[in-house]
Amino acid sequence: MQLFAVTGKPIWHSLSPQLHNAAYQNLGLRARYFRLAAGSARQALEISKQLGISGLNVTAPYKQDMAELMDELDVSARKTGVVNTVVFKGSKTKGYNTDPDGVIGALINSGVNPSKRRALILGAGGSARAAAFGLLQCRAEVTIANRTNSKAVSLAKELGCASVPWTPSSLRKTIKDADVIIGCLSQSEDIVQSKWLNKHTVVMDARYVHTSHLIEQATKAGCRMINGRLWLLHQAAIAFEHFTGQKPDISAMEEGLSDFRLSRLPALSVIGFMGCGKSSVTRILAKKLNYKKTDIDRTIERRTGTSIAEIFKNKGEPFFRKLESAALMNAGRHSRAVLDCGGGIVKSIANRRLLQFYGPVAWLWADEEETLRRLAGNKTRPVLNDSLASGNFHRLLASRIPLYAQTADILFPSFQKSPNQIADDIIREIDCAGIRRG
Ligand code: S3P
Repeated sequence: MQLFAVTGKPIWHSLSPQLHNAAYQNLGLRARYFRLAAGSARQALEISKQLGISGLNVTAPYKQDMAELMDELDVSARKTGVVNTVVFKGSKTKGYNTDPDGVIGALINSGVNPSKRRALILGAGGSARAAAFGLLQCRAEVTIANRTNSKAVSLAKELGCASVPWTPSSLRKTIKDADVIIGCLSQSEDIVQSKWLNKHTVVMDARYVHTSHLIEQATKAGCRMINGRLWLLHQAAIAFEHFTGQKPDISAMEEGLSDFRLSRLPALSVIGFMGCGKSSVTRILAKKLNYKKTDIDRTIERRTGTSIAEIFKNKGEPFFRKLESAALMNAGRHSRAVLDCGGGIVKSIANRRLLQFYGPVAWLWADEEETLRRLAGNKTRPVLNDSLASGNFHRLLASRIPLYAQTADILFPSFQKSPNQIADDIIREIDCAGIRRG
């Protein structure tokens, strides 16, 4: 199974997993795409290599940092200084920027040919760079405006286009004359007024999760709107080709966007290999969320009056797995629960499906060295002891990675941080994705 991910901070809001997973399914590829909540571009690369990930998409705020870390860059990444797609070739990385062609794909597929048109770009960050570069390639007349004017001036100089100051008078004039306006602001700014906009102007905003002031004003003015999700879709289709060497079916990808999205957190399951910190993180998480903690292994021990080690010794692993599945099935009766799952729960496809059915699944990941350090001297884990005794520890961990990846919505690194910090990271992501508790 090939693994792919998207990283950024925050990242849970990203719709990329829905797009890519829909395309794998459509082509019958054995691949899985999930979110990687790394603390930096460097950490995202490090974890990708540990997991054997084949390709990584990158979003704010790591796109520029990622470009610095690549072994090789393609033309669009080199010219924009931004990487949104990383392909791993052995231990080497090649960075691409599929956003410029993504913007153009969204425009052209909406019947807008930007050639020789006047385009205004609001913002001067990674997305603005991509949009400006893509439009200039198509010979559009590009103007950039940004609240911090110096950034607009230097980006315009670098790319060879115009800039205007972020003042009502100059923006008003440029907006009146614009054929196309692309919003690339990380935070909605309320400077644009609907009366400056004319109906023939095409407006697209890179922000696809929340609405923006620009979208509201343009809608009010009756402008021709292009949904920012189309940009997301077209950049993803190009990234997909770099990742798999195959062309995706765009409409299958687009259908993935309409998949169900969670607005309320019914239960949160935490999975991961032994020693990744599940027990302490779930304890703190349950307290902070004001949810009940359900520990699957402890439930089994309570019900049978026997320790996990004894069950393995006297009845064998298959018997334990049956108890584990039954306990997981029972755990579904509680809502507002944080589920602390044993490391091997993902071995059964029925369990994997059940976990996904219960709600979001978070995967805690610590690298092999750290895991071994944490588990040193532990005698209560039969699977650990057997794998160490037979020299199979590395193989066991490696065999579990695709199973966690298939189940999880999002991976949280669980090294170099305290359980309290990891719980806070998880809660911050839940809140940023707009998933309400209760
Ligand atoms: C197991 C992990 C253990 C426990 C049992 C089997 C596994 O849970 O369920 O020993 O197969 O990885 P922890 O991951 O909480 O140690």
